Amino acid sequence: MTPAAADPNQGSTTVLFVCLGNICRSPAAEGCFLHLLAQEGLEEAFQVDSAGTGHWHVGKPADPRMREAAARRGLVLPSRARQIDATDLTRFAHILTMDNDNLAGVRQLAQGRSPLAKIEPISRYCRHHSLEEVPDPYYGGPEGFERVLDLLQDACAGFLDSLRPPRH
Ligand code: 4NP
Repeated sequence: MTPAAADPNQGSTTVLFVCLGNICRSPAAEGCFLHLLAQEGLEEAFQVDSAGTGHWHVGKPADPRMREAAARRGLVLPSRARQIDATDLTRFAHILTMDNDNLAGVRQLAQGRSPLAKIEPISRYCRHHSLEEVPDPYYGGPEGFERVLDLLQDACAGFLDSLRPPRH
């Protein structure tokens, strides 16, 4: 696939996934999306990253519970946590948030700036689940991590399909 809207500055489509801590949901989204790209041989056409609105876990790998749940689905989560900053608003064409707090945080960061990024909730791209937010699994049990992955695999596939050029 040739992405429909490649970034003018990079020649590739840039995608940033954002949650609160950048150790559970957004690294999982990044891993899901990278997996889809690899399956389709599209890695070179994209630049993909994740970040958190919070700073508490900066430098850490993804939560082991999330990494283990992801590994059972054949997904690798390579990220190290970092905090989103204003430069991300112009480096990325797409910023996909997990919940309403993340969305509000990124929109607040964008206020008064001229972001390149289209900022939107990732849940918009779910085709098999109907929900507004990807729930935070951090303080819950193992089923929460599975649920997050179910939602994100659905949403990432929907998002990738949304970038495909229309068929004639
Ligand atoms: P995430 O999950 O936003 O999906 O990475 C969380 C990770 C850590 C915390 C909250 C949510 N925390 O409070 O430390």
